[in-house]
Amino acid sequence: MSAAGAVREDRLWQRHVDMAKLGGTPKGGVNRQALSPEDAAARNLLASWAEARGFSISTDAIGNLFVRRDGNDPKALPVLSGSHMDSQPTGGRFDGMYGVLAAFEALEALEDAGVKTKRPVMAVAWTNEEGSRFQPGAMGSAVFAGHNKLDEMLTVKDWKGVMLKDALAETLETAPAPMRDGKPGFPLDGYVEAHIEQGPRLENEKKTIGVVTAIQGSRRYIVETLGEEAHAGTTPRAARKDAFAAALRMAQAMYEATTDKDDTLRFTIGRVDVSPGSPNTVPGKTSFTIDMRHPSDAVLDAHEKKLREIVATKAAPCPATIERVMVVPPTDFAPMVVDLVRAKTNALGLSNMDMPSGAGHDAMHIASLCPTGMIFVPCERGISHNEIENATPSDLAAGARVLVEVLTELANR
Ligand code: GLV
Ligand code: MN
Ligand code: MN
Repeated sequence: MSAAGAVREDRLWQRHVDMAKLGGTPKGGVNRQALSPEDAAARNLLASWAEARGFSISTDAIGNLFVRRDGNDPKALPVLSGSHMDSQPTGGRFDGMYGVLAAFEALEALEDAGVKTKRPVMAVAWTNEEGSRFQPGAMGSAVFAGHNKLDEMLTVKDWKGVMLKDALAETLETAPAPMRDGKPGFPLDGYVEAHIEQGPRLENEKKTIGVVTAIQGSRRYIVETLGEEAHAGTTPRAARKDAFAAALRMAQAMYEATTDKDDTLRFTIGRVDVSPGSPNTVPGKTSFTIDMRHPSDAVLDAHEKKLREIVATKAAPCPATIERVMVVPPTDFAPMVVDLVRAKTNALGLSNMDMPSGAGHDAMHIASLCPTGMIFVPCERGISHNEIENATPSDLAAGARVLVEVLTELANR
């Protein structure tokens, strides 16, 4: 039996069903934010499956969780595959989790088919990809790749003031795994990440597999403006320093400054915090997040300049600041891996198309370490970051078949 032939659609689907119970929401999605008790539960479940199959598990200082199936050559560098198990606050069952479970299915299929590889094949669940609780996102893979400093990440706080290192310690206490020696990061021979597309192109074009060629660049910012708290019933307009009104002026100017003809630039204000958050007090402080993306770094630079000008000019009389909290340049994947994904997809007789990724993924960090690529499968109506996110068992299995074939080839290089 080939490894692809040993991929079991029913098993892969059931694993998604089981994982979706952890942080499951009434609308059928999940709220399993990074380093929460639900994240710990997902780690424990994955570890229990790994142990049942005789695979070894380990974790590193940022909490990335690894599952390893040994190869024949103890000195050969591993090939790695995975994604993330944390979700948006109103997330779906497949964003991230599919990549972890597809990688795990690949390990199981290799085992079931009795396929020996030269290199170890490893699955990974990266810590905090979503960045909805702790900024920046894709944190575990960024620390692994040396793009973010471990010490700085450990002291990041969530919106409630909880420090990441405390949430991580609690998670690893609930979901223990042997700690790897030294700093996060070890040499890899290759990395392949499977993911739902999170957009409508595959479904519209009736293709089963997206051969991912690149990821657009993305940046995140926090804008903060200070006003003066005052009584809502008595304070005349002219005497107010209303931090929310200042934020609104900046936000409106930013939406206008980031509208482009061909609708390529992505600009999102996804979180606004108004303080003290009382109906009858003029806001003394307002902060909001910006997520901005484009395939060209030069375009992002130009728009960042505009955002900074707006912050400098539109908030008066309130002082305002803009802090860049994440920058990830556009990523081109290794032609060797892209070609291999396409070739294996064709060999399995699956319809496919080349496409760039609009969403960010952990692969964007790992691409600087080793030959890297991604495999997309369709999701219903392209809807993601939404509890109704959906994908079909057969598409998920098709992606896992491509994945295990690609990993096998890389693991025997
Ligand atoms: C990942 O979810 C992203 O924001 O692209
Ligand atoms: Mn994701
Ligand atoms: Mn996501």
